[in-house]
Amino acid sequence: EPLFTTHPDDHNPLSPIRPRKGVIIGAGQVGMACAYSLLIQNCFDELILQDINQEKAVGEVMDLVHGLSFIEPTQVTVGTVADVGRDADLVIITAGASQRPGETRLDLVGRNVEIFKKLIGDIAEYCPNAILLIVANPVDIMTYVSLKLSGFPSSRVIGSGTVLDTARFRYLLAEKLKLDPRSIHAYIIGEHGDSEVPVWSKVNVAGMKICDADWEGSPSYEHEELQDIFQQVKNAAYEIIQRKGYTSYAIGLGVTDIVTAILRDQNRIITVSRSVQGLYGLPELCVSLPVLVNRKGATKIINLSLTETEEKQLQNSCKVLYEIIEKLHL
Ligand code: 2OP
Repeated sequence: EPLFTTHPDDHNPLSPIRPRKGVIIGAGQVGMACAYSLLIQNCFDELILQDINQEKAVGEVMDLVHGLSFIEPTQVTVGTVADVGRDADLVIITAGASQRPGETRLDLVGRNVEIFKKLIGDIAEYCPNAILLIVANPVDIMTYVSLKLSGFPSSRVIGSGTVLDTARFRYLLAEKLKLDPRSIHAYIIGEHGDSEVPVWSKVNVAGMKICDADWEGSPSYEHEELQDIFQQVKNAAYEIIQRKGYTSYAIGLGVTDIVTAILRDQNRIITVSRSVQGLYGLPELCVSLPVLVNRKGATKIINLSLTETEEKQLQNSCKVLYEIIEKLHL
């Protein structure tokens, strides 16, 4: 007995509603944390894992699909942007070298630019309308590299940027204030790395400021505590890498947050990295500021009014990135 009977009308043209299709390039610790989080939050209908180590990707996909009877369905396969991943809505790049203990994110540039030359060429050819979400470090530099190599409009080339630093900042402030991190409005901007900038002047809970705009330099117990919170944010990755070798869960959730904002057209404000040319008199580079994220990508950048100190710190952070960009041979 066949399981189904076929009705004469069954040869309809395809429905205009397209499945949401995403490709993750790089099935390492970060790629898989992203895949797991995206899967259990039902972000895509089709999720493709691409890795130079095909066998590793096959094993990862097997492990994921064995859990499908516990969650909403997603078709998960191994493939590339050139085959099953063709015409994806979103391509997430986590592939590349990662920091060894003691290395900074900026130490990875050379190794990762070479990897990206081939990857971005394929994406531009086979997924010309995709939104690119760059997660590989140094993320601001790799976002810029992807922007240049793809020729995509800047709203469609997004780096995960300081999404994680902002989350770490909110978590630590929330611990101090005994609140849910989601009730804390606070941003880390600039490089996702050692020169990042806490926007203290804008930290607030329900519109109430938790410190004076220009408190830095005026010593008090409270200020020392705040300074310590920022140091913990800035050094979080080093602390984790020293202990477990990599970071993965939180960035997986952060990436899911960005992907959801895009696919569900949420108009969320997220500190992602994108081209900021012209803002604050900056040259062409990619760096994090609070940005409006929706189906079109990372569209408008919020005009943050920064204190003099914050603006100086942002300029310095951009200078660090620009000095690297200048030396790139793309
Ligand atoms: C992190 O901040 C290493 O960029 C990675 O966790």
